[in-house]
Amino acid sequence: MIKQTCYVSLCQAGADGRVLSMFRDILTVSQRNNRANGLSGYLLFDRHYFAQVLEGDPRVVDATIARIKDDPRHRDIVLLGYRERRVRQFEGWAMGGAMIEAIHDREILLRRGLDSKGWQRKLDGEGLINLALDFAASRSTDI
Ligand SMILES: Cc1cc2nc3c(=O)[nH]c(=O)nc-3n(C[C@H](O)[C@H](O)[C@H](O)COP(=O)(O)O)c2cc1C
Repeated sequence: MIKQTCYVSLCQAGADGRVLSMFRDILTVSQRNNRANGLSGYLLFDRHYFAQVLEGDPRVVDATIARIKDDPRHRDIVLLGYRERRVRQFEGWAMGGAMIEAIHDREILLRRGLDSKGWQRKLDGEGLINLALDFAASRSTDI
C-alpha cells in the first residue's frame, strides 16, 4: 500500500519577496529528491498558500513530511488528512506543480465550488487531491 498525505500551509516569503523563484526552487529540489525516493505528488501555489499531496511508501512519506514541516519557507501547516491506497494518483509526477492564477484558473476552482480567495480553507484531503488532478490535467507541461 502507498500512503497519501495532504496539507496546506502559508508561504513565508524571503526578504526579497521573490515567491516565484522560491516556488521553482522548491519544485526542482522536490522532483530530484522524490524521484530518488520513489515519491510522487503535486504542489499548488497561489503566491500566498501552498497545498501539497505527497504519495509513496508510508515511511518515506512520513520522513519527507517531517522534513518539509521544518522548512522556514512556510508556516501554519495544516494536515488535511492521509489515506492508504493501492494505486498512485500522481504516477509520473515526481512533484508536479501549478501556480494558481486568479483570473486564468477561476473555472477550475469554480467547478470544485472554490473561489480564488480562501480556496485553501475549504479543502479536505480528497478535495485537494481532486483539485490537484484537475490542475495536472489542465497543464500540458511542468512548471
Ligand atoms: C511547500 C514545500 C513543499 C516541499 N516539498 C518537498 C517534497 O515533496 N520533497 C522534498 O524532498 N522536499 C520538499 N520540500 C523541500 C524540503 O523542505 C527541503 O528543503 C528539501 O527536501 C531538502 O533537500 P536537500 O537536502 O536535498 O537540499 C518542500 C518545501 C516546501 C516549502
